[in-house]
Amino acid sequence: MRTQVIIPAAGSGVRLNSPTPKPLILLKGKEIIVYSLEVFDQCSMVEGIIVVAPAQHCADFEAVIKKYSFKKPVKVIPGGATRSESVFNGVKATDPNVDYILVHDAARPLVSLKLVEDSIRACEMSKAIVVAVPVKSTIKRTDHNSKDINATLDRNILWEAQTPQVFAYELLNQAHQRGIGLEATDDAFLVERYGAKVKIFEGEYRNIKITTPEDLKIAEVFLE
Ligand code: C5P
Repeated sequence: MRTQVIIPAAGSGVRLNSPTPKPLILLKGKEIIVYSLEVFDQCSMVEGIIVVAPAQHCADFEAVIKKYSFKKPVKVIPGGATRSESVFNGVKATDPNVDYILVHDAARPLVSLKLVEDSIRACEMSKAIVVAVPVKSTIKRTDHNSKDINATLDRNILWEAQTPQVFAYELLNQAHQRGIGLEATDDAFLVERYGAKVKIFEGEYRNIKITTPEDLKIAEVFLE
């Protein structure tokens, strides 16, 4: 089975307040994106990696990648204005003969090799897999423009979606083509909207997304 990895890394990272693109910020001496690149490079089920970088920083990403001499081909391409556009650029740059595409946010450096392998295996059965963890807190819902609570959701049926998300190639390609212009914070949303069944694969709480400066500190603790 042939799996291509797409790493969306073209976000602005404004919440970290750093002039360096978030995936290139050093975490314990190594660029954030390099942690997940090393995991995918080690995974025998992955044949290549596409990094989707901010257009004005592609050369910086290429320079970092060159430093680490990965065994697998790692291609850098420019991203778009939204996460979905960036991932779709990656899909368009993928060999259409691959079986699966695994999408993983550059901002999640603590992904484990086991989780990557298990999620790809799960996709062989289900065609669309979202790694997620059970929600620990009580979640309240409000209207868009108000802080008045209109519902308290049953947390027993709530999951926090992470990446990796793994899809059969053509399913993801079609979902992105149909979903152009939609606001989507993950790829599974587009596949769900396309009408396909998407299955949750239970992941790991330590696979955090680095968004704010506190998250960098938490990641450092996990890496100790
Ligand atoms: O903004 P958010 O935290 O959801 O971003 C998730 C991932 O998508 C990040 O790794 C970010 O770099 C990437 N992204 C992208 N292109 C954009 C916006 C976000 O590749 N235009």
